[in-house]
Amino acid sequence: MKKFRLFIWVTIVVLVAVLAMDRFGVFSLKEAAVVASIGGPFNLIRTDGSPITQDDLKGKPHAIFFGFTNCPEVCPTTLFEVSGWLKQMGDDADKLVFYFFTVDPERDTKEVLSEYVGAFDPRIIGVTGTPENMTQATTAYRVYVRKVPEEGDEYTVDHGASIYLMKADGSFSGTIAYGESGDSALQKLKNLVK
Ligand code: NI
Repeated sequence: MKKFRLFIWVTIVVLVAVLAMDRFGVFSLKEAAVVASIGGPFNLIRTDGSPITQDDLKGKPHAIFFGFTNCPEVCPTTLFEVSGWLKQMGDDADKLVFYFFTVDPERDTKEVLSEYVGAFDPRIIGVTGTPENMTQATTAYRVYVRKVPEEGDEYTVDHGASIYLMKADGSFSGTIAYGESGDSALQKLKNLVK
């Protein structure tokens, strides 16, 4: 009974502390809820044809970027920067896995994706799948994706441009924003593999 009373008191103190931090902006409950829910189940394939699920990401810190091979600027710029960071990380680069998930699975077949991603750095793993399965993944990671029609049958895809940094247990660690300085990005990657 004494133990139970102590438990109740501890719970009340923790609750009050969390609500106070939320109230005074030290910590946001809403943000915490969003962060906790980044990531989720998916069923996709790597460019070598092997299946990949949420569980396969676990075991090593990883970074995920969502984009597409026909992207005019954001994706090639980001992948070029990623290839530079991986080189700068030296042996530490082996401690994390970098994934490029396509947001355009209709055009980005595993062959197309393999050639594209490989041109930046062979360590970046391209991931594709059926449109339905890709949508499941982008929804799980809360990535903004919107197909925008262009002339004729052409289209482009607007998409969120942040790199997601994920811990080895699959939980969300942070992001690298598009255009963030190289020093800052490299530091975040080093912290991720610490
Ligand atoms: Ni892009």
